[in-house]
Amino acid sequence: MHSMREIPTMPPTRNYELDLAHIRTQFPILCREVYGNSLVYLDNAASMQKPLKVIKAISDCYSNYYSNIHRGVHLLSTLSTAAYERARKIVQLFINASSMQEIIFTSGTTESINLVASSLGGSTVKAGDEVVITGMEHHSNIVPWQVLCERTGAVLRVVPFNYRGELIIHEYERLLESGRVKLVAFVHTSNALGTINPVKILVEIAHARDIPVLVDGAQAIAHSAVDVRELDCDFYAFSGHKIYGPSGVGVLYGKRALLEAMPPYQVGGDMIKIVTFEKTQYAELPNKFEAGTPNIAGVIGLGVALEWLQNIGIEIIKAHEQTLLEYTTDQLSRVPGLNILGTACEKAPLVAFTMKGIHPHDIGTILDREGIAIRAGHQCAQPTMERYGVPAMARVSFAIYNRHEEIDALVKTLFKIKELFK
Ligand code: ALA
Repeated sequence: MHSMREIPTMPPTRNYELDLAHIRTQFPILCREVYGNSLVYLDNAASMQKPLKVIKAISDCYSNYYSNIHRGVHLLSTLSTAAYERARKIVQLFINASSMQEIIFTSGTTESINLVASSLGGSTVKAGDEVVITGMEHHSNIVPWQVLCERTGAVLRVVPFNYRGELIIHEYERLLESGRVKLVAFVHTSNALGTINPVKILVEIAHARDIPVLVDGAQAIAHSAVDVRELDCDFYAFSGHKIYGPSGVGVLYGKRALLEAMPPYQVGGDMIKIVTFEKTQYAELPNKFEAGTPNIAGVIGLGVALEWLQNIGIEIIKAHEQTLLEYTTDQLSRVPGLNILGTACEKAPLVAFTMKGIHPHDIGTILDREGIAIRAGHQCAQPTMERYGVPAMARVSFAIYNRHEEIDALVKTLFKIKELFK
């Protein structure tokens, strides 16, 4: 029999420098209460909270210098344009892209993937071709390819993964042997299982067959260093709101030669050089892919979020989050009837689980009444749920501001839930 007394509440000692109390003061929302309890926010994979610096940068933009970009000769437009393009430079350096022309601002990972599926996919994929994805994709890296295949008569192939949640590499290699694969798209880190895929190896295997690769980096970007040149991927997509930035803004990195050869995704203002009724000449990169007025303040906020993160240091963040992951995995395994799904060797700081006889929605709802926010549901990855034969999972996911004490609060409530459903 397990009992609550068995749970050690002493957090492990840290071997890295981190002023967690100071970091937490930078997130105003962490002070709020939920149903009379201090907020314990463990739904960071869905969306992260924002530090004051980001909130203030957005407010400063709208309060002091906001205007449309790339258009005006007046001061406000010049200031907004400079701040927007500065953010592009920050992103370029953050992921080590070769140039600012390779950074396209989008509304998020979903739009970044749709852009590639529609533009590159639409212009190169033909009937009988194949597109390869993996079995652990988020819906946003399934549906755009499925629609492309339906439209063109191409075939979607899926790389399977084992019960631990690791891709079966020889199956991946086998699928690429057909000679018909035009594109590979896979997730860097699974949002449902936490698996960190061996991106560099997967890219090498595809490139050996001249197949371009898109990486969905939505769940990876905030948790460890991403160097697109080191990974050698052709495209890398991520969202601002999953890296302490605003929602409604995201990034598509693409290798310049590929982006230059691709047709525009959306057309309209700001992506043109010359328009006549006979013909339109498109703007150079990156503007060619940024039609219409973008999320100006959001892009500026994203740049500030990346600077804020760099100030702490991605290695410190990773070290802290990995201790949270280990502690959580250990503590959750003490809860009777709790089953962790996703036990890959390389994992991001998130843990998905089910509890015997208790629906994840009940787990999520009861935790919420204690002020603990988690995600409960299909995790936008229904094929992954199907792989484990469950309709839904409960998932806790971490950010730099989470504390070991919060995991203790989580585990304590899970024991209560277990008792409640006995
Ligand atoms: N993709 C987000 C998640 O995993 C919404 O929760």
